[in-house]
Amino acid sequence: MDYFRAGRNTLYCEGVQIERIADKFGTPLYIYSQRSFIDRFREIKRAFSMLNPLICYSVKANSNLSILKTLVKEGAGLDIVSGGELFRAKKVKCPAGRIVYSSVGKTEEEIRDALDYGIFMLNVESESELKKINSVSGMAKRKVKVSLRVNPGIDPSTHAYITTGKKENKFGISVEKAKKILLEKVKYKNLDISGIHIHIGSQITDSAPFVKAVKKVRKLIVELARNKIRIRYLNLGGGLGIVYDKEKPQTAESFAKKIIPLIAGLKCRIILEPGRFIAGNSGILITKVLYLKDTPVKRFIIVDAAMNDLLRPSLYGAYHKIVPLFQRAKSYELRAKLVDVVGPVCESGDFLGKDRRLNVKEGDYLVVLGCGAYGFSMSSNYNSRLRPAEVMVKGNKTYLIRRREEYRDLTAKEYLI
Ligand code: LLP
Repeated sequence: MDYFRAGRNTLYCEGVQIERIADKFGTPLYIYSQRSFIDRFREIKRAFSMLNPLICYSVKANSNLSILKTLVKEGAGLDIVSGGELFRAKKVKCPAGRIVYSSVGKTEEEIRDALDYGIFMLNVESESELKKINSVSGMAKRKVKVSLRVNPGIDPSTHAYITTGKKENKFGISVEKAKKILLEKVKYKNLDISGIHIHIGSQITDSAPFVKAVKKVRKLIVELARNKIRIRYLNLGGGLGIVYDKEKPQTAESFAKKIIPLIAGLKCRIILEPGRFIAGNSGILITKVLYLKDTPVKRFIIVDAAMNDLLRPSLYGAYHKIVPLFQRAKSYELRAKLVDVVGPVCESGDFLGKDRRLNVKEGDYLVVLGCGAYGFSMSSNYNSRLRPAEVMVKGNKTYLIRRREEYRDLTAKEYLI
């Protein structure tokens, strides 16, 4: 987390003391470094510069408008998965020619909206969907570019819930079927089926599964070329892993070095859909210690953030480093105990971290690291809790980019009967 640095007994986000931000905006609070988003985007861009790829930031990782705007201004495209994400893309004036759209279940209305806006490409995940898009684009009198999402049948050794390229996953079309569709593509009069898309999973720290998957689709593209079917776009999806704990993930550069030789001869325009790589370590969650609670077996640190604010630990058992803003002298008694950091939600599964060694007092701030991706975007109002505010630091300045919810937001869409 390059832009979150330790100072003397405090932490900084870029040029601002995190404690000051928390005092001003309250907790729980998401804090992002704009510079970090930009740098991570540029890292990928630089690594693949010889191929001049279209880099579409995966909106689902963190869809705050100010973040999207920052990246779009940098030249990023957007990878969207719903009409809602298209709405966001339009709000930040993302050029339509830089938007790609994946999802196993696009509705007719969503497809129509995407065609109306003139997005660059739809990533298609089944034959039925292909037929639907063909008919919608016929009605709209618009030929649309389509990529087939191929499921390469690869296990990327990441969490089962975020694996997407195994045969048993709901995603994509088998290599054999994709080939069959492409050989008969004239059937789809309103579609320009000219791309292959893969996305094998998320938080993949090693290049091996990517290499395996790319080799599979390369073979497919070469075979199709022999049959005079030309694939002009190759979308490699997202999935690059980051450091949460002790991982040693591949850099964008080492990833590119492995992948570029495999695809250089294919003459395809490359599309990438990174989410976590750009956003993950660009944000933190700050929370306040409400109570310390000792039980015969354990000490609990009860904080004001919960699973509704950050779901990853509860849902995936994901590890996020948790550090105190103030380092306290460690008494023997505190050092000896392992603590669980838990929220106020009424579920035993509501925790941010388990078996941590932390030495804090009530009222202290704790910082949860690596929360820029799939943090706020997966938050909810469970237990009628208000979703936190989000702020963006830009040099020495801090901007509120989403206000904290208020009680009236909770019931704003409900009707009393
Ligand atoms: N492209 C497609 C088609 C995807 O399904 C995804 C993520 C991405 C790109 C971006 O992947 P990334 O670069 O961020 O790994 N909620 C989970 C992660 C789910 C990822 C879903 N798809 C988590 O918190 O770990």
